[in-house]
Amino acid sequence: MNRVLVVGGAGYIGAQTNKLLADRGLKTVVFDDLSTGHRSLARWGEFFKGSLADPADLARCFKKYRFDAVMHFAAHAYVGESVTDPAKYYRNNVANTLNLLDAMRAAGVKHLVFSSSCAVYGAPRALPMRETLPLSPVNPYGRTKLMMEQIMADYAAAYGLKYAALRYFNAAGADPAGEIGEAHEPETHLIPLVLDAAAGLRREIKVFGSSYKTPDGTCVRDYVHVADLALAHLLALRYLQQGGQSGGFNLGNGKGFSVLKVIKTVEKVTGKKIKVQMAPRRAGDPAALVASAARARKALGWRPQYASLETIIKHAWDWHKVKVIRMRK
Ligand code: UFG
Repeated sequence: MNRVLVVGGAGYIGAQTNKLLADRGLKTVVFDDLSTGHRSLARWGEFFKGSLADPADLARCFKKYRFDAVMHFAAHAYVGESVTDPAKYYRNNVANTLNLLDAMRAAGVKHLVFSSSCAVYGAPRALPMRETLPLSPVNPYGRTKLMMEQIMADYAAAYGLKYAALRYFNAAGADPAGEIGEAHEPETHLIPLVLDAAAGLRREIKVFGSSYKTPDGTCVRDYVHVADLALAHLLALRYLQQGGQSGGFNLGNGKGFSVLKVIKTVEKVTGKKIKVQMAPRRAGDPAALVASAARARKALGWRPQYASLETIIKHAWDWHKVKVIRMRK
């Protein structure tokens, strides 16, 4: 068995997956430019500092190692920023990713597990969301992910690429062993922001919209544990290696939680009272996103191990406390 190239393995989900692959005895190389990732999170396997923007970096990496497969996590992922600075998103998430696909072609590497997103669906017409729904993203970020899925399908037809596009719902939680977690700069995601409030790092949490057509009026999301996402990558790799058909797979727990429910659960887990302020809607937020992950369960054999919201928040809190202590030193 040759190595697995983990592009973006110094980021939140890439690092968790890289650690899992290493734990399962696979040899890995993390390729990362450390623009948003953290070197300290990429401590399993080997590390190659390089940029997807530079085909020469990729050529050097593919020359140095032989790879059986690639997992690609490196992308910009702020929906709001993708609206105000689409060039940054199309450049990195699409154009630079083409460099990676072409480096794979040149080296004869056929298997790719790709980080896609539920953002490819836009505002869904039906819940839970199956892969058969129309793909109709409502922001440039989602469009970059859809474009990559279309490009991969064309590369599959023409060049024999085999790919799994894993459509994450809301990635959350942290490494159950406490070694990896979310450390975005700036942080925009709900759970780490509410934990900041619990840790006394912010005064209050703004709830973006309270008149959605949901049970309590606030947005509903399907939070999925980062360790379960990592597991799906390993299973997708095996699936491709065993001849599985290329395509998209939803990854979520099939259960939606409102913003207010998330805040309540943080209060329960941390024992701290969170000050809440109702605020206007955030542009581009669909009311509710809940996955049907039936295809991933059936085809990949994926069984999430940490489906409870309380466990997801507990692991995120354990990581958050360590991060906060480190920041205060
Ligand atoms: N929210 C608040 N207050 C905050 C932050 C978030 O009310 O301070 C709300 C949002 O409006 C949303 C929910 O909490 O309703 C979750 O927001 P996140 O920013 O944590 O996550 P998103 O659902 O916006 O984004 C996630 C991924 C994206 C992906 C998107 C698909 O992070 O990468 O799902 O819709 F594109």
